[in-house]
Parts: sequence; C-alpha cells; structure tokens
Amino acid sequence: MDNRPIGVFDSGLGGLTAVKELEEILPGESIVYFGDTGRVPYGTRSRDTVRRYAGQDMAFLMEHRVKAVLAACGTVSSTAKDIGERLPVRYFDVVDPTARAALRLSRSKKIGITGTSATIHSGAYVKAILALDPQAQVYPKACPLFVPLVESGFVDPQDEITRLTVERYLAPLRDAGVDVLILGCTHYPIIKEAIGRFMGPEVALVDSGREAALALGGFLRENHMLCSQDNRRTAEYYVTDEPENFEASARLFLGHSVEGKRIDIEKYSSLI
Ligand code: DGL
Repeated sequence: MDNRPIGVFDSGLGGLTAVKELEEILPGESIVYFGDTGRVPYGTRSRDTVRRYAGQDMAFLMEHRVKAVLAACGTVSSTAKDIGERLPVRYFDVVDPTARAALRLSRSKKIGITGTSATIHSGAYVKAILALDPQAQVYPKACPLFVPLVESGFVDPQDEITRLTVERYLAPLRDAGVDVLILGCTHYPIIKEAIGRFMGPEVALVDSGREAALALGGFLRENHMLCSQDNRRTAEYYVTDEPENFEASARLFLGHSVEGKRIDIEKYSSLI
C-alpha cells in the first residue's frame, strides 16, 4: 500500500480528461494536479521550451511527494520522452498506451493521429505504432486550432466554428478511410462529440488521457501501490494563472467543483 498522491500535469485544462478517468477507475486515490494555465499552449512552442516547462512542472510535482507521475499532455509526452528516466518515481506518458490501444482497436490498420503541431512534428506516435506493427498505415495531422477552441469554451458540437474546424482538419483522414483516430492531445476529448459526428460511427476514437490513466492504474494495482482502504482521499489543483477561469472550466470537465491554487512555476528549476 502507498498512500502518497498521484501527480498529474498538463499545459492547462486538457489533463483533467485524464483526472476524470483516474477518478472513475481509482476512486480512492489522492491526486495532485498541475495545469500550467499561465503558459498554455505548449503545442506551438519549440522542443527546448516544452522540455524546460515540463522539467519545471515535474520539479513542482516531486516537491509534493507523489508516488507516480502522469504526463497528461501529448505535447510533453512526445517531446520529452526521456524525462521519466530522471525521476525517482514511475513516470507514465500518453504515447505508448495510446499506440497499443489504437492497434488493438483497428481492423484495417489504417490509423489517424491528431495532436498539436509539436506532437505531430515529433513523430512520436508514428514511431510507437510502427514499432509495434510495421505494416500499419499511419495518417498524422496537426490540429493547432483545437486547443484554443477548447480553452475558449467552443466545445458545443453544434458550434459552427468547431464543426468547420473539425471538418477542415479531419477530412483527409476520413477520406483515407482510417478506422481508428487517436486523440493525441488531452484537450481533444472535450470536443469528441464534434469529432465523432464528423468521422462517423465506424471510426473508433482513442482518448490518450484515458489510455494513460488505465496504464498507470494497472501498474499501481500490480505493484500493490494503491492507497489503503482507510486513506482519506485528497485532490489538490495548482495553476499558474488566475484560478477562477480554471475552476469554471474544471467543473465542466470533471462534473464537480474544484478549488485551484495559483503558484509561481518559475521558482522551480527544470529537471531536464
Ligand atoms: N493538452 C496538451 C496536449 O495533450 C497540450 C496542448 C497545448 O498546450 O498546446 O498536447
């Protein structure tokens, strides 16, 4: 048994999609969430900047004595893959569990991959899928407007702007006949309905935050690292901008209210 919390981080709100999964699959676990709302988005920044930010985010989580870290951010997962090796605790990113799930679900082995520009340019998902199945056909597509749409609350599937943006980015993948579409950024499940309506019911959508949460849960269970039954669950949320906006959106994502605390991330030296 290990009563320490699980550390989860993202550039902003997107990682809450992984927290929601953790709440469902591991309801007794304590969580420390860090959302870098003052520096979002990460996905349009250079690799070096994303790595430095991720290194600071990890340093913050390590100060909170977490037992495992979940990088609930496709951008960090694909540009700072080596970061886990520097941590004294087990590190999970979204890429490998998502690649495995996509191959499991695909019959045609034609797999679409969406993500931020940084994620797609890193080629991390393509590499992970082809390492598992060299015969797979992959169709990567950067969707840089999805994160601002989500962060600005344009999440209604009927919203004309959201609908047209989805269509513009995903038409080539639908035309290519993919039967699985990876939502390689943890913000994207928030507009899953709009994406699903456009791609059609025969295309399975793989939620990267969910797959990573399942992998982490399985690891804790197998290694007897879950909290004890009598543990009092806690959930702390830290952000780097005014907490009010975060709290309002978090309620939408999680279905319950949370209290965000603002911290100064620049005080932390990067672990990479
Ligand atoms: N949620 C993030 C991801 O999964 C990052 C979005 C961003 O900051 O650009 O890639």
